[in-house]
Amino acid sequence: MDLLTARKNAADRLSRACRLCRQCNGVACAGEIPGFGGVGTGSGFIANVEALARRKINLRVLHNARQPDTRITLLGIDLSMPVLGAAVAGVRVNKMDGITEHELARAMIDGPQSAGSIGMGGDGGDPEVFEAAIAATAEFGGHAIPVIKPREQDALIQRVLRARDAGAVAIAVDVDAAGLVNMALLGQKVEPKMAEQIREVVQAADRPVILKGIMTPEDAVIAAEAGAAGIVVSNHGGRALDHTPGTADVLPGIVRALRGDSAGNGQVVVLVDGGVRSGVDVLKMLALGADAVLVGRPLCVAAVGGRAEGVRLQLAEYAKQLQVAMMLTGCESLADVTSAVLSDHRQSVVSHNRSPVTHRRSAVSHQPCSAPW
Ligand SMILES: Cc1cc2nc3c(=O)[nH]c(=O)nc-3n(C[C@H](O)[C@H](O)[C@H](O)COP(=O)(O)O)c2cc1C
Repeated sequence: MDLLTARKNAADRLSRACRLCRQCNGVACAGEIPGFGGVGTGSGFIANVEALARRKINLRVLHNARQPDTRITLLGIDLSMPVLGAAVAGVRVNKMDGITEHELARAMIDGPQSAGSIGMGGDGGDPEVFEAAIAATAEFGGHAIPVIKPREQDALIQRVLRARDAGAVAIAVDVDAAGLVNMALLGQKVEPKMAEQIREVVQAADRPVILKGIMTPEDAVIAAEAGAAGIVVSNHGGRALDHTPGTADVLPGIVRALRGDSAGNGQVVVLVDGGVRSGVDVLKMLALGADAVLVGRPLCVAAVGGRAEGVRLQLAEYAKQLQVAMMLTGCESLADVTSAVLSDHRQSVVSHNRSPVTHRRSAVSHQPCSAPW
């Protein structure tokens, strides 16, 4: 199995859901939800890709960063790379062929684990989506993050307890799914959450809770104050609400709000997703202040075409590309990837500390690239 074969297999199986465009940017599939597109005009998905494409990078080659180290510890979990698998699920509603819900959930959890990373499980209008995520979480020793829809509180807490009992190392709630088309289509109730309800989730989970779908500094601070250990800056791949900005555009303001806060909110882990398609995109998101990124559609394509091995290969490719990008920007460890990597770093966070996260440093001496030039 190689990535090309996985993509060829996926092209046959995804013909009703995804065109496997050369550039996965949300243009051809605009409005196709159910399916792989963004909601409405598709502008949220397109904005994610454009916001990343606008950022340019300072090429630096006169330094000693020869073997960049991509390892990171997030929420106590050791990872080989700052690239995690996003939850992508709902084979029936999203028109994926040649794969069952359980096979998709297994691939999206087994694949990242095999690559030294971690994957997420989904939840949806079809009850099988959550059952598949929980089964795969238990099967792979809890090395997964189930992402639960913001259902009515009792139903949400019930699922949080199921995820906890399956041994999940962390549990997420995709709070931006409060009005998701696919949930409404299948008659499933979801709702916006108040801080008090998040506190209840945190207490029931008894492990780190991540809120996915944070797009403003205000929501980020509420999440932190309600006890979330992490957030995902995300517009659900442009699927939650039309005309949301690109996540790379809102990320620096959110990081500033959390890291500049004296109430201890600087400890919150900041993840981001939306339009990440290469190791260079990963580098940009880290330079804009994220601790790590999630990838959605490309990993789902790899899973449909190549199961866990396809996902592993895709993640390994991102890690390799990130390592090269770090070398060519003079970054020996992830701690060196600051806003100075970006060619117009005044647009972004001036400097940030990823305090809750441990970056491995190799013994090699290097010229740090964090100084402004
Ligand atoms: C077909 C499809 C199904 C998805 N299912 C879920 C889900 O069950 N839970 C969730 O939190 N996000 C879900 N997402 C959103 C992803 O987790 C992620 O936020 C998004 O895909 C990231 O953008 P990217 O695809 O451009 O990388 C889904 C996305 C797609 C395209």
